[in-house]
Amino acid sequence: MEFRSILLGFSLYLVYFVDIVISRHTSSFVRSEWPSTDIPLDSEVFAVPKGYNAPEQVHITQGDYDGKAVVISWVTTSEPGKSEVLYSKEEHKYDRTAQGRYTNYTFYDYTSGYLHHCLVDDLEYDTKYYYKIGTGDSAREFWFQTPPAVDPDAPYAFGIIGDLGQTYNSLSTLQHYMHSGAQSVLFVGDLSYSDRYEHNDGIRWDTWGRFIERSAAYQPWIWTAGNHEIEYRPELGEVATFKPYLHRVTTPYLASKSSSPMWYAVRRASAHIIVLSSYSPFVKYTPQWWWLKGELQQVDRERTPWLIVLMHAPLYNSNEAHYMEGESMRAAFESWFVQYKVDIVFAGHVHAYERSYRISNINYNVTSGNRYPVPDKCAPVYVTVGDGGNQEGLALRFSDPQPDYSAFREASYGHSTLELKNRTHALYHWNRNDDGKQVPTDFVVFHNQYWASNTRRRRLKKNHHSQRRDVFVASL
Ligand SMILES: [Fe+2]
Repeated sequence: MEFRSILLGFSLYLVYFVDIVISRHTSSFVRSEWPSTDIPLDSEVFAVPKGYNAPEQVHITQGDYDGKAVVISWVTTSEPGKSEVLYSKEEHKYDRTAQGRYTNYTFYDYTSGYLHHCLVDDLEYDTKYYYKIGTGDSAREFWFQTPPAVDPDAPYAFGIIGDLGQTYNSLSTLQHYMHSGAQSVLFVGDLSYSDRYEHNDGIRWDTWGRFIERSAAYQPWIWTAGNHEIEYRPELGEVATFKPYLHRVTTPYLASKSSSPMWYAVRRASAHIIVLSSYSPFVKYTPQWWWLKGELQQVDRERTPWLIVLMHAPLYNSNEAHYMEGESMRAAFESWFVQYKVDIVFAGHVHAYERSYRISNINYNVTSGNRYPVPDKCAPVYVTVGDGGNQEGLALRFSDPQPDYSAFREASYGHSTLELKNRTHALYHWNRNDDGKQVPTDFVVFHNQYWASNTRRRRLKKNHHSQRRDVFVASL
């Protein structure tokens, strides 16, 4: 047993060491398991639940800043019905109710169903809740688990999915993710791809809602908007940006004092998660710029050591697709990410997987000529995980040679998982969808950026030793 522990310890050390020392890698693995076409409308994957006006497209998201609330969302199609959620800690014995509201919208010739959103708050941490929506024979029941209280050592597992769409590759990604054991999804934008249809057919938003319900009804999906959510179609008379997205998805932006649902922050277990909008104004003096400046100042790494940023367009990516589309946001925010020692920036948009080393390019200015990114231990790792499997297919052309900043890249479908173990360590995997198996292809042990400083490490060690001594004395 002891030998196995030593072996495991050595393997983890080796993986970390390899990540630091061995040079960058472009995987030669190429796979397109199924054609990049959407699953047909009449597929079982999109089955409408039985019963008159039965709630469908059920999904939940975090409803407050600290994880003691959820927003439950669903759609009814024949009539509004009640915007009410029954819930309880005991299955089938509902003793509490919450009242929500509903909305609907039109997009050119499409009229949506009734889109319900209901805040369920004052929940206990680390508790399983059952909930019921709809009435009579059409009622449906689900459950979710609240996260542990916000605490620097609270373990938690996130999944990261981007650019999902609704093909058989998307289904494969979702099915693989659902076997990962992760507890909530950090979704990095581009949801349904309904804007790829004539008149941005809203029916493909409805099928997507039914598609993700198998996961999103049971655990929160933390939403980031992508370019496919913009849906700006002036020739159809549709000029309000993000219209379907904002009707269908809610975010707890008011809880983090944001002025827009497009950018916000939540704290969950030991993580502080900041969601940014690549397609809303973000240059200096805009609301998103002011909000991010303030939010970064109030991140408390003593309570939430893991600082994670989500956005759609990657700041660092060496694929030829969408190359440098994140450059304007990099110019606006990269110096803050370094200053505040962000652990990881997750993005999507490019339909392939890539992970960077810790690098920055903050010394660059138009006249200095220092235009190449350099190793920077205060900088985040940039991960692009836009490989959910949508109908646009893979981004197969990486720039050659692989830039120094790029650690690993592969053009196939998959998802990532980030397991926060405690305040100092996290295990990260990228899992390729491979012949129905989940294959952890890229694996890194992340050392927390805040607790990595020598002073803090010494303080932690000292506290740890004194706690161990207290336990020892108490046990005498
Ligand atoms: Fe995109």
